[in-house]
Amino acid sequence: MTSSDALRIAVFNGKGGCGKTTLAWNLAMGLGRRASTLLLDADPQGSLAHWADWSGREDIAIRVREWGSEAGHGEEYAFIVTDCAPRLEAEELKQIVAESDLVLLPVLPSPLDLWASRRSADWIREQRAQRPTLRAAFVLNQVEAQSALSRAAQVAIAELGLPVLRAVLHRRAIYRSAALEGLSVYHMGKRASAAQAELERLIEEIVT
Ligand SMILES: Nc1ncnc2c1ncn2[C@@H]1O[C@H](COP(=O)(O)OP(=O)(O)OP(=O)(O)O)[C@@H](O)[C@H]1O
Ligand SMILES: [Mg+2]
Repeated sequence: MTSSDALRIAVFNGKGGCGKTTLAWNLAMGLGRRASTLLLDADPQGSLAHWADWSGREDIAIRVREWGSEAGHGEEYAFIVTDCAPRLEAEELKQIVAESDLVLLPVLPSPLDLWASRRSADWIREQRAQRPTLRAAFVLNQVEAQSALSRAAQVAIAELGLPVLRAVLHRRAIYRSAALEGLSVYHMGKRASAAQAELERLIEEIVT
């Protein structure tokens, strides 16, 4: 298998703080347990590359590189996940999406956050109109336990014109504590089992 056979997933939303890095990092870790995975950091702040540096753990099986760096070319991966910055140069974003099979847009399940994702959703739909094989979906993040998506949020998301994954990520302290240690929820043992399970459901949904 060469990298051209890889499933390429971009995690993008122009809305800041919606969970792009959290999703990209944990998703890559989950994919990395199945097959070789490269995580590309397209955020100039480079927080992912930083985490991977100071964690220094051998049980982190994925490779992390800055997007656009030459390193990693010619290596073989089954999955390539790119974490996008909230503000990306238009050309850079175009290139990342042009190289992707699937765009995941994390979004908080509130009407305000959904409206704030509108421009990103419109832009992704334009890209899909030009290349219908491009897949794209919202991923609800920081969903509160027990709370159904409010009626207003359901209306807002339907109007954005992109599908929504059935799998959601709930608001869980373990996502934050894992990040603080430079680790993923897959490294946090039993107390992270619910988070791991929801990531596995998400992976099943996008990979099959
Ligand atoms: N499901 C979750 N449960 C609890 N905390 C979360 C969850 N998802 C994200 N967070 C926290 O919310 C904050 C923002 O998340 P994150 O940095 O992943 O967003 P982002 O979209 O990458 O932000 P930016 O636009 O600045 O790149 C972080 O502190 C993160 O730990
Ligand atoms: Mg980020």
